[in-house]
Amino acid sequence: DWVMRDHVEAAVARIREQVGDEEVILGLSGGVDSSVAAALIHRAIGEQLTCVFVDHGLLRLNEGDMVMDMFAGKLHARVIRVDASELFLGELAGVSDPEAKRKIIGRLFVDVFKAEAAKLKAGSGGHKGASFLAQGTIYPDVIESGGAKTKKATTIKSHHNVGGLPEQLGLKLLEPLRDLFKDEVRELGVAVGLPPEMVYRHPFPGPGLGVRILGEVKKEYADLLRRADAIFIEELRNFRDEASGKSWYDLTSQAFTVFLPVKSVGVMGDGRTYDYVVALRAVQTSDFMTADWAELPYALLKKVSGRIINEVRGINRVTYDVSSKPPATIEWE
Ligand code: XMP
Repeated sequence: DWVMRDHVEAAVARIREQVGDEEVILGLSGGVDSSVAAALIHRAIGEQLTCVFVDHGLLRLNEGDMVMDMFAGKLHARVIRVDASELFLGELAGVSDPEAKRKIIGRLFVDVFKAEAAKLKAGSGGHKGASFLAQGTIYPDVIESGGAKTKKATTIKSHHNVGGLPEQLGLKLLEPLRDLFKDEVRELGVAVGLPPEMVYRHPFPGPGLGVRILGEVKKEYADLLRRADAIFIEELRNFRDEASGKSWYDLTSQAFTVFLPVKSVGVMGDGRTYDYVVALRAVQTSDFMTADWAELPYALLKKVSGRIINEVRGINRVTYDVSSKPPATIEWE
């Protein structure tokens, strides 16, 4: 695609001009925007970029390894992985209110990232120290923050954002995706070598599984949820709609599993089980402001529930969420 190739070249030239021989830090989350920003900036300045990937222990199954394989392994970018799961789980112990959990996760995330950024700013071992902070801000984020004044006073869910970080860290801001819409960001991502499955993924909230485990977050719950959710996503990718030829993953806007910390009775073999419940959630939406629950094929639901109950010991009941937004929200918390 010639047009995209021109875009990439122009973006690379702009980054090189802006950065010169200085160094850049980027917070890599594994999400589309930060991933595309990282791949693009790496193409432009290579070793002058250092990515910081904070693993809060609330990511999907194998997510951390996949991010490392992609960026450190395939793209040969410099990536620092910070395993902060014990810190996050420790601070979340005993906390069950959704907004309180979001605030804790958001605050710790910024603290951990800031500590890494401060080290990188100081420089060491052949690195003179970073002077730029790169962010995967895209055009809709720019509009959203500009229009914040018109927003209603009541926030339904506080999203974790890292506004003000560059100033606090004394770093200049680098935002190579600022003029692009989501679709353009995705095309650019493919053009700089990211796999389409990564670039066309469903959105994943910053607080991760922290808001998909209802109430108090525990490692045991997160481990069960990760395995159940991986099965759901795998089968959504496997099942195709005959008419369109598309997978149900691509036919839904967002799909995930929710962990319910309640136990229900079941039977397995000759024995009685008393285990946890999960809910499957899949929605179709164009703007995430309103959403319809997806009419997934029964065969898909059947396969997923059978696999989860058989493969994930500790879960003995699977339910499907048939609530649209409004009045329900997409996430359960
Ligand atoms: P709701 O649940 O409000 O979700 O209908 C709408 C969209 O926002 C995402 N979401 C979040 N994203 N931090 C995020 O980064 C959050 O705290 C958060 N809460 C909800 C949700 O996944 C959906 O795409």
